This record gives sequence, C-alpha cells and structure tokens, in this order.
Amino acid sequence: MGTWTLEYEGYDPATERLRESLCALGNGYFMTRGAAPECTAGEHHYPGTYVAGCYDRLVSGVAGRVVENEDLVNLPNWLPLRFRAAGTPWFTPDRPGLLEYRQVLDLRRGVLTRTLRYRDPRGHRTRVTQRRFVHAVDPHLAGLETTVLAEDWSGRLEVESALDGTVTNAGVARYRDLNGEHLRPAGTGSSGADVVWLQARTATSCILIAEAARTRLTGDVVPEHSREEVLRPRRVAHRLVIPVRQGQAVTIEKIAALHTSRDFAISSPVEAAVQRVQDAAGFQELLDSHVLAWDHLWRRADLRIGGEAGDVLRLHIFHVLQTLSPHTADLDVGVPARGLHGEAYRGHVFWDELFVLPYLNLRFPEISRGVLTYRWRRLPAARRAARQAGYAGAMYPWQSGSDGREESQELHLNPLSGRWLPDHSRLQRHVGSAIAYNVWQYYQATGDTAFLYTRGGEMLLEVARFWASAARYDRALDRYRICGVVGPDEYHDAYPDANRPGLDDNAYTNVTAAWTLCRALDLAQSLPAPRRAELFERLGVRREELERWEEVSRRLRVPFHRGVISQFEGYGELAELDWDRYRARYGDIRRLDRILEAEGDTVNRYQASKQADVLMLGYLFSLDELAALFARLGYRLDEDTWRRTVDYYLRRTSHGSTLSSVVHAWVLARTRGAGAWRYFREALASDIADIQGGTTPEGVHLGAMAGTIDLVQRGLTGLETREDALWLDPAPLRELRDFGFDLRYRGHWGVGLHIIDGRVRVSLPDSEAAPVRVVVKGQVAVVGPGQVVELPY
Ligand code: BGC
Repeated sequence: MGTWTLEYEGYDPATERLRESLCALGNGYFMTRGAAPECTAGEHHYPGTYVAGCYDRLVSGVAGRVVENEDLVNLPNWLPLRFRAAGTPWFTPDRPGLLEYRQVLDLRRGVLTRTLRYRDPRGHRTRVTQRRFVHAVDPHLAGLETTVLAEDWSGRLEVESALDGTVTNAGVARYRDLNGEHLRPAGTGSSGADVVWLQARTATSCILIAEAARTRLTGDVVPEHSREEVLRPRRVAHRLVIPVRQGQAVTIEKIAALHTSRDFAISSPVEAAVQRVQDAAGFQELLDSHVLAWDHLWRRADLRIGGEAGDVLRLHIFHVLQTLSPHTADLDVGVPARGLHGEAYRGHVFWDELFVLPYLNLRFPEISRGVLTYRWRRLPAARRAARQAGYAGAMYPWQSGSDGREESQELHLNPLSGRWLPDHSRLQRHVGSAIAYNVWQYYQATGDTAFLYTRGGEMLLEVARFWASAARYDRALDRYRICGVVGPDEYHDAYPDANRPGLDDNAYTNVTAAWTLCRALDLAQSLPAPRRAELFERLGVRREELERWEEVSRRLRVPFHRGVISQFEGYGELAELDWDRYRARYGDIRRLDRILEAEGDTVNRYQASKQADVLMLGYLFSLDELAALFARLGYRLDEDTWRRTVDYYLRRTSHGSTLSSVVHAWVLARTRGAGAWRYFREALASDIADIQGGTTPEGVHLGAMAGTIDLVQRGLTGLETREDALWLDPAPLRELRDFGFDLRYRGHWGVGLHIIDGRVRVSLPDSEAAPVRVVVKGQVAVVGPGQVVELPY
C-alpha cells in the first residue's frame, strides 16, 4: 500500500478474486468488483455488480429439503471490453505472452487503473492502459477508458464492448448447490449509433434492471473505423474494427448507466439508462467531477494518522464510503455485512451496523439516519415476528433483506464435513439492542430530536417492549431471565445434549436489554408531553408497562462463575478445550466449530468462543457506564472483575469472526492491557491479507473495516457522546500516540480532535452553533465556536 494507493505488480490468478474485492468500485448505489473487463466468471475471475437493496428470493433443494434464500442479485456485467489484433485470440491475462501487468487503486480519486503489455501469438507487442470509475456524483453512471498502443505493429485492432446478462449468483462456492439464476432476460436493443442496452428482470422480486453502454473512440485523431451491433437476448455488444499504426494510441471509452425499477424520478429503467448515457459527458469530464466529489468526501472522512496503519485505515474508509455514501441516505437499504463487494452472506444485513454507524454518526449522520430508517420501515415485520413468537414489541431478524422477515438460512454447509446442518443463528435476539443502541448513539451525536421523537423513538420503545416481554421472572432466583437465545458467539447455539436450541442468561443479551429498557425509560421521560401522549396512545404503551421496564431493567440476571462474568448460564461448567493440541493439529483454528463437527464432536461442549461475546460489553460501554449498569442490576463490577473477565475470554476465543479482533483490540486498549496493538494489526489485516483464508474474495468485512476506523475515533480517544457532552478518556497505544480527526457534532462541522503527548486538543470552527461541553477525565471545559482548548489526560 502507498499512502493513497493499493498497488499490485504482476498478475496472480490465485489471488485475483481477492484483488477484485479490494479493488471494487462503488458509490453507495451500486458497486462493481475490480474484475478484468475481458474475463467472464470462472475459477479465477468473478465480475460482479450489485445494486444496494436489490434482492431476489429463490427456492432450492438441498439435503432432501426445500429451502428458500434471498440473495443480493448479481446484475448484468457492464464491464466487458475485449480486444485483439485481427487474426489473434482475444487478450486475457490467463494466456501466455503477458509481459507486464500492474494494477493501482487510487483511493483519493476513486479510480482503478490497469496497465499491461503483452505479446500475442503472432509476436505483436501491445500496451494497454485502462482506467475506470463508478461515478460519485451521478450514482447511475460508470466509465471505463481503454487506451491501446500497438508497439511494434500496424494493422487492425478489434474491440468488443458489451453488456452481459448471462451472469448468475455463483460467487460463493458453499452456495453452489443453491439456485443462483436470478435474472430473466427482458429485452435488448440499441439507440443511435453508439448506444446498446439490455434489460433483465429478477425472478421473483420482479425488479427491472436496465443497463446502457455508450462506446466511442476518443482522442486527437479518431481513425476511420467500422462498427457492428450484436444484439442477443442476454448479451449486447458493439464490435469495432480500428486501423492502428505502430506507435499510435487508440482510446476507447465506454460510459455505462444502470437503473432499476426501484429508482426515483424515472419513467422506466431502460429509458432512464439510455437517456443517461446519451446525456453523459465524456470520460475525462466525468472523471473530473468524480474526483472532486471524492475530495469532498475525504475532507469529512479522513483520519490524520501516519504509518502503515494510516494507509490501511484509508482503504477501510474508502470501502465503507463506497458501500454507504451520501447517495445511500436516500435509499431504502441497510448495512450489508460484506459490503456490496461480493455474495457472501447473500448481501444480508446483520448487527454489523453496530460497528459502522458510530463512525458515520460523527461524519455523515445523514447516512446513519438513512440506514436506521431502513430498520424503521421494517418495524411492522419485526412486530409480526414478535407476535408470532408470543412476544410483545418488535423482534428484529438476525439477517434482514428486502422486507425485514428473518432471512437466516435454515441449513448451512460445513465444507469440512460436507454436511448440511441446522442453523440456529437466528436466535441472536441481541440484534434488537444493537438497533436501539444505534438509534441512541445517532441521537447523542446529532441531537436530532425530530428523529428520536418519531421513527427512532418508536423503534427504541418497541425493542424495549420486546425485551420486557421476553424476560421471564424466576421465583427461585428472584431474577428475570431471557432464555433460549444465542449470543454474539454463534459457536454456542445449545447446551450439550439438549433437545432444544438456545442458551439461557446470555450476559451480553441481558445487559444490553437492560440498557435498552433504561434508554426507553429516559425517552419516555424526555419526550415532550404532547408527543409522548401521541406516541403512547398510538403504540398502546401503558403506565404499568413502564413500571415493568423499570423492574426488569433492575432485575435481569447476569451469571458469574469463578469471579468472572459468565457468557451464559453454565458456560463455566463446559469442558476446557485443549487449544494447543488443536492448533498443533490444524494450524488455523478460527473455524473450530467446523473442525469439531467434522470430527464428530461439537463446539457446544467446550469453553471456546467464536468471537467476543461478554467482551462486547466493553466495546459498547466505558467501564464507568458498565459498572453503573451492573450496579443498577444489583451486581458489583469493579476493575479487577472486568480485567479477570477480559483475561478469561481472551484465552478461550478463536476469532472466527473478523469483528473479534476489533473488539479485543478495543477492550485491551481501554484496559491498558498488553496485546491491543497485536489485535489492532490483525483487524487491519482482516481484508487486505484475507486472514480468514478465502473470505474476502467473497466480499469485504464491512464491520471490521469500520470497526478499525472507529477504534481510532472512539476506542483510543475514549470518545463518548452522552449526556449532551463529548467525553474523552484517551488511551493511545505506544505504537499510535499522535493522531487527530475532524468530527461533525451537534451542528458543528469540523470539530477538531488531536491527541498528542498526554494532551488532547479540541477546536471548534467559527459558527453560530452552541458551545460544546467537553469532559476529559473529569475536567469539564466549555468550548465555544472559534475556540481551541487543550487539556491534559
Ligand atoms: C459473525 C457475526 C456477523 C456476521 C456478518 C459472522 O461470522 O459471527 O457476528 O454479524 O458474520 O458479518
């Protein structure tokens, strides 16, 4: 990595799919993997284009069962552009004769450039430079510019520029037994001399997708050339034959437009797409506006941090903003766990926004609000789910897609054993608390009461209601219990030998449920009386309900064993795993669940966690806030107990999720424990080095990417936005002690925070906004617009 670039020298088929994910370009509306334009899907290549929120549901038969799955649909490929000297085969990097190959992703400008030289079977040497963007200003446009130089030959160059609708969802090997044929052809055609278009329809969600491509030769001297149109039901192309002279470059530019029937302000997708490419400026002019838009994004998004960590963090910011951009704010979409970069987890939305929104809240709050609105629109589905399960309020799904029903699969494949196994991950009810937490954090960062008192508040109240109804009083324990759930550590989905799935008293679930109930009570208190009356009357919230919230929030059970918080009731009685033996035998044991299942055993028998579960509490809450929550629940949580708990789980976690190293780095940094830097580095490597071994080629890990950024923004600064103040408690790492960034906070654009040498500097730009209360380790300062304050920590 360079400071603003990700660079690859040479072509390596084995890692090509990883490059495609890391070099994917997008604008929050759609995204295209960084695939070679001349290649179709195969062992080494997987071109993929995904529109945010464009899902389709299909049934498949696996393991003797009929299962239904909803996928983020791989849309027609707009990239195809191939070339050859007449009489030779089309160029691909997989053929012999490649002399040079270099790929550079420019993060500052959002441009992917490929330069290559090759010798064809006739001995001709050709040099090619290719640049592409997915437009940051007009979210429906993309451009690909190809410059071909015949180094030592003259003759005819053949170029084919196409739109390919023959694609399927086939990007994840584990899903290959499932039906991936989501697209039905819906017409092709051309318009004018240089535009072809293609339309397709998704099989069951009936979304129309239209793409149009305009292909032109540009440059000072455009040679006379011939052009032929090829229109097939699923593929359209222009074929050009261009006379070339030795040493003279020819530039072909392809501008593509993409629309779906979900778009606003269109009459039909195909008309809109054709119109768009007809109206579009040329490649260079589009590129200029695109680069300016990225410049504006970076001004708001960047961290001032040096070194290798800073470089990787910039890559992470880049991918977060390509998935969730200001364009996303207007769409009905959530946070896809694997970005729009591939097909892993089928483009579904999990709890990962918990790791993404805190960064966005303080930079691009509109995006957070848009993503939270996606959840609000699915409140009726969450209410229905709660009702059907016998609860009140809203029970959000663990995996969410188009309409908010539960999209978690019923069976999942263990590639190690080849067995399809029941999937109980849907019992992760804690996703509701994540939504409540995000609503509250968004409000704390923005002060947006218009949202909190309406959509946000409604979600918060309904999730609180769900928890109050899910908690059952246990007379013997004199405590409320939430039973039959799965915590963030999804290795444990049942007690060993139990005949029902789920666990009891998951500490993370219960503590976050208690927190949600407290915030719902806070909201009930702070709502303006007329609005409270409206909301409570409409939702049917009764006074006795609030009393129950109060009671449950004080009496939920949190189990302990041997002086540490138990992940769930009985965790401490599970067998200890011989970690050394498993490491020696298997090397990488991140997916211990699969290893043990393949051995005929089950991870449910062991004190072995996939990822941070109890320790997630230290990620969401400062120790002070956590101790106060525990005290309210009638438990004592002091620093020693927390440290013991951290040590305990650190030794029993396999980090089978990339989120785990983010949380461990965070918790260790906050407790000033050794090893924070090691986990931070591991989190930074998650995607760029594909540390889970083959998962990044199927899509980036958006939660981990955003989590690493937030680790600097909130983790190392101890930044909290609560009680209408900015709280800071810096805990910089030895390896990372001088950094800064600008935030948006409560109407201030560009609140500067700088951590250096035991001091924290806070600066506010000039404005009419109200002063900000800053609390640094108990010292309170009120910083007004135009002021700079420095405080020791
Ligand atoms: C993790 C979940 C996460 C999901 C999607 C899983 O491997 O265990 O916590 O939400 O991936 O990123």
